[in-house]
Amino acid sequence: MRLIPALLAISLTVLVAYFVYTPIPDGIQEPWRLMMLDAGFRATVRLAKLKSWLGINHDVLSIRQAIQDFENLMKLMFSSESGGAVKPGVKVSDFAFGGVPVRVYEPPAGGEGYLRRGLMYFHGGGWALGSAKHGSYDMINRMLSDELNTVVVSVEYRLYPEVNFPVPYLDCLAAAKHFLSPEVLSRYAIDPERLAVAGDSAGGNLAAAVAQEISTDDTLSARFSVQALIYPVLQALDFNTPSYLQNANVPILYRPAMVRYWLQYLGADLSLQPQLLANNHSSLRHPNIGHELRARVDWTILLPQKHQKNYQRLVTEKGSEGVQDIPGLLDVRAAPLLAAPEVLAKCPRAYVLTCEHDVLRDDGLMYARRLRDAGVAVTTDHYEDGFHGCFTFLTWPFEFEVGKRSFRGYLNWLKENL
Ligand SMILES: *[C@@H]1O[C@H](CO)[C@@H](O)[C@H](O)[C@H]1NC(C)=O
Repeated sequence: MRLIPALLAISLTVLVAYFVYTPIPDGIQEPWRLMMLDAGFRATVRLAKLKSWLGINHDVLSIRQAIQDFENLMKLMFSSESGGAVKPGVKVSDFAFGGVPVRVYEPPAGGEGYLRRGLMYFHGGGWALGSAKHGSYDMINRMLSDELNTVVVSVEYRLYPEVNFPVPYLDCLAAAKHFLSPEVLSRYAIDPERLAVAGDSAGGNLAAAVAQEISTDDTLSARFSVQALIYPVLQALDFNTPSYLQNANVPILYRPAMVRYWLQYLGADLSLQPQLLANNHSSLRHPNIGHELRARVDWTILLPQKHQKNYQRLVTEKGSEGVQDIPGLLDVRAAPLLAAPEVLAKCPRAYVLTCEHDVLRDDGLMYARRLRDAGVAVTTDHYEDGFHGCFTFLTWPFEFEVGKRSFRGYLNWLKENL
């Protein structure tokens, strides 16, 4: 009887198709590639949760390991480092800056007295995943160093679950202060007038927070002259912005997952997730959220009408017990969008990249607007066909045309403005 194997094969195919298939918004190109990427990531997360349930490993550590294994496999299969992006002219070395591990990319030295640009990069991954040394981050920073003749310092700040806020922020700040010291700038022949800080997603959060702190520190002799924020995470008061609602189920960053990354980062109880999704943590009863603070995340004022659509602002009356003391919720070092206008006014010129199909779109758009209102020159680069994470998907099998385009956009802006 051939019937049973045939039935099994059909069932398995249906099951796999069912798991892989996810509705993808019309605006996104290469939908099948994104479905495969998302299915791979979801399978990794499920397996990690199972391993955690069995007591084998922390789920975040399993996911981190799985991503690294996948990247190593790709490297092995194509027997080239970082998907063929070796730049022979760029010298790569690992050091510690202010006690924090960093990877430094140095283009060939220019002539006597020739000064180069400098850029500090913080990678993304929800303050829990990713590494300066692996995968696309290594490739992106190598390419940038090579093409823009820039010394790039990519920071290996500590992650959850090993640490919580404010440790990742403090690691980044310590590395930044060391980078900006006259000795380091002269050792690497960097022009103190041409310094950038950049990062994507959670790294964009860290870049914005560090830029604010550096800009308001009068003891420093050099500061960042530009900041480049790639779909940054900037606030945790409102998880019902139009972009959170519109893109709640768009791969690869789902709305509940972003809330979870926040709870992990802030060291709060993960069981609070449903309450944050309902904005119950920022109700009108919250003793420390006044009118002024609330206005800084009020998208009905800060967003262009075309992004507001017909969404309604959700401000809860009462909230629920026990959610009002999430540590760091109102700390500008965790949520840079909450900074006062006087602080924003001192911040460096900004490049803010946003994607239409991203829960974090409005975080970026609101920050761009607030920086502009404070008198800072801002370039916004909005990708109508972009999704969260696209900027780092540049190599096979997960290479996206919009990823390459957005990376080029960032590079071109820095070429002109750094
Ligand atoms: C949010 O708070 C309201 C009012 O206290 C409560 O009725 C509701 O159940 C809460 N929602 C969640 C998801 O906890």
